[in-house]
Amino acid sequence: MNIQHILSEKIKQAMISSGAEQNVEALVRQSGKPQFGDYQANGIMGAAKKLGLNPREFAQKVVDNIDSDPLIEKLEIAGPGFINIFLNPVWLSEQVKNALHDQKLGISIKQQQTVVVDYSSPNVAKEMHVGHLRSTIIGDGVVRALEFLGNKVIRANHVGDWGTQFGMLIAYLEKMENENASEMELSDLEAFYREAKAHYDNDPVFAEKARNYVVKLQGGDEYCRTMWKKLVDITMQQNQRNYERLNVTLTEKDVMGESLYNPMLPGIVADLKAKGLAVEDDGALVVFLEEFKNKDGDPMGVIVQKKDGGFLYTTTDIAAAKYRYETLKADRALVFSDTRQSQHMQQAWLITRKAGYVPDSFSLEHQNFGMMLGKDGKPFKTRTGGTVKLADLLDEAVERADKLIAEKNTNLTDAEKQAVVEAVAIGAVKYSDLSKNRTTDYVFDWDNMLSFEGNTAPYMQYAYTRIHSIFSKSGIDPDTLKGPINLTEDKERTLALKLLQFEESVTVVAKDGTPHVLCQYLYELAGIFSSFYEACPILNAEEEVKQSRLQLASLTAKTLKQGLELLGIKTVEKM
Ligand code: ARG
Repeated sequence: MNIQHILSEKIKQAMISSGAEQNVEALVRQSGKPQFGDYQANGIMGAAKKLGLNPREFAQKVVDNIDSDPLIEKLEIAGPGFINIFLNPVWLSEQVKNALHDQKLGISIKQQQTVVVDYSSPNVAKEMHVGHLRSTIIGDGVVRALEFLGNKVIRANHVGDWGTQFGMLIAYLEKMENENASEMELSDLEAFYREAKAHYDNDPVFAEKARNYVVKLQGGDEYCRTMWKKLVDITMQQNQRNYERLNVTLTEKDVMGESLYNPMLPGIVADLKAKGLAVEDDGALVVFLEEFKNKDGDPMGVIVQKKDGGFLYTTTDIAAAKYRYETLKADRALVFSDTRQSQHMQQAWLITRKAGYVPDSFSLEHQNFGMMLGKDGKPFKTRTGGTVKLADLLDEAVERADKLIAEKNTNLTDAEKQAVVEAVAIGAVKYSDLSKNRTTDYVFDWDNMLSFEGNTAPYMQYAYTRIHSIFSKSGIDPDTLKGPINLTEDKERTLALKLLQFEESVTVVAKDGTPHVLCQYLYELAGIFSSFYEACPILNAEEEVKQSRLQLASLTAKTLKQGLELLGIKTVEKM
């Protein structure tokens, strides 16, 4: 149920009937305070001004033009011309009933766009680091929200699997194979890369071979191609283990690495040149962009082909944007990467648009994010200053969650305990990231994320088990609940309304790529449920009231579970 959307449409129509333009906006928002109703329309003043009317008079006209509707109990004009909207509890209770019996909890709007989501995107023969962790979990949360609302999502894992470093990597892989190196050594990609580089820098024969291999690889040489594929496969198998542990939906089928676009690059560069966008500059091909200035205040030059003929990260992203529109027929393409790549993305896309590769209607969105910081406020690193391996980070999370759960002294079987530890550990790491506005840096803090208080995964998971236990302790099957849902008490009404706002929060996540909006919603829902539960006895109430309140409890549990699932966070029945 998207109440905000229904009300926006209704009020917009009434505004048009009252003389406003077709494209007027009602600006309906959830109200901050109950005395201002459940929702308020903030668009009246602006529209009245355009029409040269007194805002309160215009508001009255609009209100008069809204037919009586089962959804609305009353409308009030407030302040300079707001319309406060009070919803009808009978209607609310019917909607709760519908949501309770709907698999998708009453989602009313079916979105049908094709959306390419470029996320995770690690690099071959390198360990995934914390930047990829952020991209992976935030991207996956948005993917799930988009799919839940009905969109077709194409996951594009833009793996860094191309470039001059592959000559050196192939040469080193060959050396290791000749020396019968164990699997073990390959599992440490960071060390592999380091060693390859050391050989390249210090051994001229090795370096010569490496340079030769780059040329051969680019020329499609079969041996080099096979060795390259091995490197990609080893890396992606290791990453796949991380994805599975993280409960992320990416699979090997979603890899659309940089190499995919490589064959398109010569054609694109030639075309940019023919269109007069790319010009020769000191041997390289450069696009000068008026929209970006260099330090001298002149148009900034973006290289699309180096002097030696090599292509760049930007060239690939121009091709990727074109491909996503032209071949994948997407309506939107989102890229989840670090804020430090913002300028790069904007430049690549500006060139894409100038070249006419995509129409204005095709939306290119950089869903950038800030850095993950250590408790000292500096970029998150190991104690010795190295990059933190994702696998190690997850091991530590499990270790810490294990201690935490052991302290709780619950009567769980070993298997149950194991499931709780895993859900809490991974949930905590993910939720602490997802619950922050992605655009700012955030401090990675074990103690905070593993706390049972505040907006954390353990708190949310625990809130879910508490509701679950109302049913398991009383032996009541939630599917057998019946009778009307009464919203007579304030707390009942508040809970019902909040439950019906689930779709609104998921819609924002899908539109803006901001999973923290869903976290905030779920956190508030859990809090509202707690106060409802304190004020309104459930199991001791008389039968009809009990059935009614249990239905509210059941929908709360379902919503928490579904919401956490959209964030890729597991729930358990008891903990
Ligand atoms: N592989 C890149 C990195 O590790 C991220 C790629 C982001 N996506 C893109 N289309 N540029 O930084």
